[in-house]
Amino acid sequence: MPGLGEVSTGNGGVGVERPAPGEMASTVAHLRAVTRRHSARFERSIPLIASENLLSPYAKELMISDLHSRYAEGLPGERYYEGNEDVDEIERVCLGLAKRLFRCSFADVRPTSGTVANLAVLKAITETGDLVGTSRLADGAHISSAGFGAFGLRGVKPVYYPWDEERMTIDVARTREVLRAVRPKTCLFGLSLFLFPMPIEELRPTLEEIGARGWYDAAHVLGLIAGGQFQDPLHEGCTVLSASTHKTLPGPQHGILLGQTEDAELRKKLESGAFPGVTSNHHLHAMAALAVSLAEHLEFGREYARRTIENARPSPRRCTSGGSTSSRPTWDSRSRTRSPSASRRRGVARRSPHGSPPRGSSRTRTSSPATGARRTRAGSGSERPRSRAWAWDRRRWSGLPSCSTTSSTRGRPRRPSPTPRPS
Ligand SMILES: Cc1ncc(COP(=O)(O)O)c(C=O)c1O
Repeated sequence: MPGLGEVSTGNGGVGVERPAPGEMASTVAHLRAVTRRHSARFERSIPLIASENLLSPYAKELMISDLHSRYAEGLPGERYYEGNEDVDEIERVCLGLAKRLFRCSFADVRPTSGTVANLAVLKAITETGDLVGTSRLADGAHISSAGFGAFGLRGVKPVYYPWDEERMTIDVARTREVLRAVRPKTCLFGLSLFLFPMPIEELRPTLEEIGARGWYDAAHVLGLIAGGQFQDPLHEGCTVLSASTHKTLPGPQHGILLGQTEDAELRKKLESGAFPGVTSNHHLHAMAALAVSLAEHLEFGREYARRTIENARPSPRRCTSGGSTSSRPTWDSRSRTRSPSASRRRGVARRSPHGSPPRGSSRTRTSSPATGARRTRAGSGSERPRSRAWAWDRRRWSGLPSCSTTSSTRGRPRRPSPTPRPS
């Protein structure tokens, strides 16, 4: 028997270094402290990248429910095991809300992320070797479209849409020529980085002419679409939409498939693309939280999406006027006041006109594999008061009891205390 801290070669000869006395407890304590530090930082500030958002307390509450540890393979009423009645009910509500919010005939809430949703679509509507229209990574496409991403996994080949550098969108006339010449079976629209709606309506006659199916990856713009502030791909010519549910739609990290089709075979293919194609367990806690977020978006979505756009506008303005290349915005989303002194009073960090970080800021930089663009996450030196978008109109929350992720005692969500309580 080896002593503590020594390598055991028992149990089939697999060597595992045994923990020292107290090691597990101190590791757990360390992880809890670091996580609390992280959470406290995000309670005080909104140092988000464009792919991130905040989750409402009611959605968060379901993320830590028992659903987290369960399985429910199949669809509501057609599970592979007993005991899924409650999950069935939650999933039915989630599917109904999704179809209502996006005014569409099909939904599947089992993909566990946007990338997984893309894989499900590829599995459902393409064959290995197919040509699929898409944009280049350099023009803003997600790595899903790359040979080293989902396209490569499925073995489909990209046909790139020509790009109009001036207008910063797809060059419609040249794309028509390419599509007629190459005739891909599927055409993917929607990007990671884009400022303008994709010209789906303009290209729709060409898609119909060559018999291609339109597919939209709405990972970044899902909440804007639901809020009526962006194009509506399922009513402009795309039959299938895939997305993440945690960006402009402020839901949990999860994925979704939507469709505007009465084609029963296509629906079946999409469902089997999701399961068993790319999921087994579909993260029931996140699916339940998504249902909450969809209900919230039905209530707040229009205003939320309008404000998302309103808040985004100052950033490019400052980038062009100040010569900055950083994606870190500097406005206080709760107020339109731009006065530097007002900003200072609120603790809003200012930046130099050249985009250098304010004194004392700590920032981490990551390189986006999709674009090569450098993204900047502001550190504690540039923290700002956090926007509480979900609490715009508190009257709309009345009647809901407080939930376990808030300290509220008055039946409405409140920001949890930024100071971690001792365990
Ligand atoms: C257009 C697009 N599709 C898919 C994804 C992947 O989403 P997820 O991180 O949920 O897998 C992203 C991520 O930002 C994206 O920009």
